[in-house]
Amino acid sequence: MRKVLVTGGAGFVGRHLVRRLLEAGDEVHAVDCLAPYTGGIDPAAGWPIFDPREFRSFIFYKEDCRTWFARVQDTDFDYAFHLAAMVGGRLMIENNPLAVADDLSIDSAYWGWAKQAQPRKTACFSSSAAYPVKLQRADGYTLLEEDMISFGDEIGMPDMSYGWAKLTCEYLAQLAYTKHGLKSICYRPFSGYGEDQDDAYPFPGICKRVLAERGAKALSVWGSGRQMRDFIHIDDCVEGILTTVDKIDDGGALNLSTGVLTSFNEFASLAAELAGYRPEVKGTSDKPEGVFARGGDTAKQRRLGFQAKTPFREGIQRALESYLRSG
Ligand SMILES: NC(=O)c1ccc[n+]([C@@H]2O[C@H](COP(=O)([O-])OP(=O)(O)OC[C@H]3O[C@@H](n4cnc5c(N)ncnc54)[C@H](O)[C@@H]3O)[C@@H](O)[C@H]2O)c1
Repeated sequence: MRKVLVTGGAGFVGRHLVRRLLEAGDEVHAVDCLAPYTGGIDPAAGWPIFDPREFRSFIFYKEDCRTWFARVQDTDFDYAFHLAAMVGGRLMIENNPLAVADDLSIDSAYWGWAKQAQPRKTACFSSSAAYPVKLQRADGYTLLEEDMISFGDEIGMPDMSYGWAKLTCEYLAQLAYTKHGLKSICYRPFSGYGEDQDDAYPFPGICKRVLAERGAKALSVWGSGRQMRDFIHIDDCVEGILTTVDKIDDGGALNLSTGVLTSFNEFASLAAELAGYRPEVKGTSDKPEGVFARGGDTAKQRRLGFQAKTPFREGIQRALESYLRSG
């Protein structure tokens, strides 16, 4: 039985990862303070996808991970997945950048802990937001490749304090490897989605609006609606993590992406079509849209043996059915 730490284990990605680890027979130590405005859900309240309390090997600490790091220094962790972060949706990233900057402190405490505890392998969660925003503009965007961030060279401006913190976490991962021999991989997930994601994110937001306004002539989406994202189903994200976690040791990065860009207008139209109507989709200028196009190249993932499988259409269909079932 492997002993595994998952910080932020009650969050969206964490819950899905914890499930796969428990099903594989691991002993999972999940640390999560259920921070307000994040996607964290208390296991005591029941998780939407499964009940972790049915596994005796699930140990939950409802605690700020910085306090936990100072308190627990077990040196026998096989894996540490560091997901704890103040993320929230676009409104949080744009309007509360100093709250998001807490990630700098969370990550620095994490690396301090890892240096002492020496987990056999660590996986930390950066983000596609770490990529330079200049590569994501309407007049010259491109699919983002892992080596477009290079610490030996010029660093482009990432997306707000969120991207900045994630970039710093990656830099610390590289230093932890070169100075302290800590083996790690840094994931850069693109727009992960799934039916149990927090409503602050565009995926559940648009799907639920499509259902609530069924039959309407018009439907609104944030920003111009032309902004594009690379939507990757959470099952694929977790599969990608488990397939590749042992394949990079030096703190190097790996996208979790599909390489397919979909605009919010296309997304809402597709969801409405699946719900049985064809509204005119319009942007709402009072809500932020973020960068214009954020999509991740997939060549490195394929080289490491992973390719996302779930077509976006299927992921939307699954979510619509789940929302209809739960009323
Ligand atoms: N979901 C995505 O598509 C995506 C994309 C890019 C990056 N990421 C990264 O993956 C990780 C998980 O994201 P998510 O979508 O599951 O977000 P989430 O908000 O659902 O989960 C984050 C969890 O971290 C917890 N947390 C925050 N501060 C904490 C602290 N000080 N101590 C302990 N727990 C704390 C929150 O309570 C929450 O449960 C984050 O690091 C995020 O930046 C996710």
